[in-house]
Amino acid sequence: TFYIAVACAMAYLLGSIPTAVWFGKRFYGVDVREHGSGNAGATNTFRVLGKKAGAIVFVIDVIKGFASTMIAYFLLEKQVISSENFMLYQLLLGVLAVLGHIFPVFAGFRGGKGVATSLGMVLGVYPAVAALCFGVFVLVFGVSNYVSLGSITAATLFPLLLLLPAFKPENPLATVGGFILGATVVAMHHKNIKKLIKGEESKTFLFRSKDK
Ligand code: G3P
Repeated sequence: TFYIAVACAMAYLLGSIPTAVWFGKRFYGVDVREHGSGNAGATNTFRVLGKKAGAIVFVIDVIKGFASTMIAYFLLEKQVISSENFMLYQLLLGVLAVLGHIFPVFAGFRGGKGVATSLGMVLGVYPAVAALCFGVFVLVFGVSNYVSLGSITAATLFPLLLLLPAFKPENPLATVGGFILGATVVAMHHKNIKKLIKGEESKTFLFRSKDK
């Protein structure tokens, strides 16, 4: 229906806001895609522009994912969807925001890898799962100093958690959606995976970067 199409477009456009690109250009005169890993995400913003910029981009990208799942409340209110498939629509809208983040219409379809936006969307749909994934991310990153390894581990863990009785979604389609999201985020890290194997991946030190 019309409202569902509008909601989907809104989620994609919200995800499409290229925080890292716009923030870097506006406040530092730098397109982060031309430096570091070339990725338009919070990690590369941190790497290229420093702690403060990285943190701001991270928070905004998380909010994009979270807010997109909240659009489902609008559909519920308009009675276009029922409370039974509410979660499924939250997931659909969240995935669209993540796709927007990866392929942003506002930045030549060259965006990020969808990690922060996925975290925000999982926070909106399954807060406990989000907390677990984030915890594992922090652990892996903390031990290895590779953000990408933390992201890949957390993105792999996410759909696996949905198989546990405690988190199992009522609709099996939601689990399928979880696997698609996890696989997309992992696939976006193909260059990082190659570098990790070769031992050439760049390390990130949260407390050692120069704060610009
Ligand atoms: O958030 C993306 C992260 O997992 C990797 O980023 O810039 O090191 O490729 P980057």
